[in-house]
Amino acid sequence: MGKATWYVTTPIYYPSDKLHIGHAYTTVAADALARYHRLNEESVLFVTGTDEHGQKIQKGASDQGLTPLAFVDQIVRQIKDPLWKALGVSYDDFIRTTEPRHRRVVQAFFRRLREKGDIYKGTYEGWYCLPCETFWTETKVSQGNCPDCGRPVERVSQESYFFRLSAYAERIREHIIRHPEFIQPVSRRNEMLGFLDEGLEDLSISRTGMNWGIEVPDDPQHVIYVWFDALLNYLTAAGYESDEARFQATWPPNLQVMGKEIVRFHAVIWPIMLMAADLQLPEHVFGHGWLLIGDTKMSKSRGNAVDPVRLIERYGVDAIRYYLLREVPFGSDGLYTEDALVLRTNVDLANDLGNLLQRTVAMITRFCQARVSLPEAAPGERRLKQASAAAVAEVENSMASFNLSQALAAVGKLVRRANVEIEQSQPWALAKRQDRQALHTVLYDLAETLRVISVLLSPFLIEAPSRLRAQLGIALEPRSWQETEFGWHGRQFQVSSGPSLFPRIEDKAKDHEVQTSAEGRQASISTSSEETSPQEMRHEIDIDLFQQVELGVGTIQSAEIVKGADRLLKLAVDDGERVRTIVSGIRSHYAPESLIGKQVVLVKNLKPVKIRGILSEGMLLAASTGDALALVAPESTMAAGARVK
Ligand code: MSP
Repeated sequence: MGKATWYVTTPIYYPSDKLHIGHAYTTVAADALARYHRLNEESVLFVTGTDEHGQKIQKGASDQGLTPLAFVDQIVRQIKDPLWKALGVSYDDFIRTTEPRHRRVVQAFFRRLREKGDIYKGTYEGWYCLPCETFWTETKVSQGNCPDCGRPVERVSQESYFFRLSAYAERIREHIIRHPEFIQPVSRRNEMLGFLDEGLEDLSISRTGMNWGIEVPDDPQHVIYVWFDALLNYLTAAGYESDEARFQATWPPNLQVMGKEIVRFHAVIWPIMLMAADLQLPEHVFGHGWLLIGDTKMSKSRGNAVDPVRLIERYGVDAIRYYLLREVPFGSDGLYTEDALVLRTNVDLANDLGNLLQRTVAMITRFCQARVSLPEAAPGERRLKQASAAAVAEVENSMASFNLSQALAAVGKLVRRANVEIEQSQPWALAKRQDRQALHTVLYDLAETLRVISVLLSPFLIEAPSRLRAQLGIALEPRSWQETEFGWHGRQFQVSSGPSLFPRIEDKAKDHEVQTSAEGRQASISTSSEETSPQEMRHEIDIDLFQQVELGVGTIQSAEIVKGADRLLKLAVDDGERVRTIVSGIRSHYAPESLIGKQVVLVKNLKPVKIRGILSEGMLLAASTGDALALVAPESTMAAGARVK
């Protein structure tokens, strides 16, 4: 676009009540994108704020016996802190529509369009939905209810200013068709084209008989319609009519993010306002899906809202941000459940990432006196180097298409790949063989991969990347996205183990029930270990990892009791190549002589261990529940040595 600043916005929220996790979802998504662009050394303007005028706010205030400003002030304070502060929302500007800078812009803009003839005075006859602050014509209202939210609408009949939307219907349609990247994802673009097919009527943009809003210039009986006022916040924050240099560097927005229910305002009405004022249109308008509770949208008025601050207190900011951005493909609707949040944290963060860090640091500490760098003669092409480069490219592509969950999935894949690498390269065996060259190469690559992961995660998570980097002994914050390059500066890692990156949640929140609503809705989801089934906690593995386990058919040749151990039998098992000794804890289930000639399945590449002074070279597979136990065997006789897979 050739301008200096990458400009991203969220909707400005109604401070009519506390915000919930649905609002946090939009804001955290925009925040991750802003952080990503900053890391790419771009100048970024990330704006969020509050939409403080309108009848809904006025009513909320009078219900509490407060002036509208006093009413919104207290809510706005809480939105900034604790909410956005605790969630790590790094906005550059927080705009409130009650600020004088905004009022000036709205009035100047109104004047400009009125002078041009795109705003005119007439009479409005129709319906109004208060919760949505939306006008509806007779044809759209079904049985007295709002077509968007289904709640009753009220009849309005009054003198009003109108904005000549209809005059721009063809231009906006053409813009949408010519710029497939304008409205995203494509499903919303189709919706908008469908909406335009129904025809555009001029929009009523003023109300009389209420005073909580910005007055129409030179006609103070009229207050400007809250949506017309609110949409202009994006101009105000960019410095329109107040700071020309800032405006030139910033306008138009690169990305405007919002929930799907208000795409119509942002992808039709708003661009037409800009067209009328001869201003450039936003590059991308992205309408994401809803967080649902059961099959309804989470919302305060439905009483099913989840308070993010409580969740952060319980699980930490990173778990919440990760869950929001990873769980649901950005653009689709998704079900919010607290147990899915717990599962995501435990599997992706505690198990996969946490273990990778812990194992890597432990091995570098043990085998390399806590210090590792790349050996001179290390090969240039290495598996983790390639996997890292592929992950970086995938994250970059995903971020370019705003597909945040896909970006995080790519990071997850790299984490799992690194865990597999540990299994494949077996650093402990390299240490034993004193293969220093191979050992240092693999441990360096693991540390390097973790370092790259810390950079890749920086746009998404607030605390974990620096905690991870502290254990690797490198600067706590990456300076730029460039640091995703593998082998960056051929550094040395001086590791030190630290507290677990993500403790498993059942440990932390044992026996603790979490209430999901500020109102005390009793839909609590226990995170105690008794109630979290093993299934939910399952750590999925790649086929690669499974294939590391060498399973084969064996035939038992002899079995004898191990003296002094009442659970153990010493078995001689023909594995097709040789007879190996296996000590197995099956004595209370099988008489030794009953086992002779029996076929079994054994793990052939298990590290040998000494049990009761006997070297046991493998393990037999057995099924067990409670007290019952049965050896696993091929369903019909197979040659000893047959592979099980
Ligand atoms: N004030 C208007 C926006 C004006 S922008 C010029 C408004 N405010 S709102 O407080 O109702 O916020 C709506 C936005 O909050 C949605 O578009 C979406 O970004 C976010 N969400 C609110 N509930 C949500 C879910 N349940 N799920 C996902 N996003 C949700 O509309």
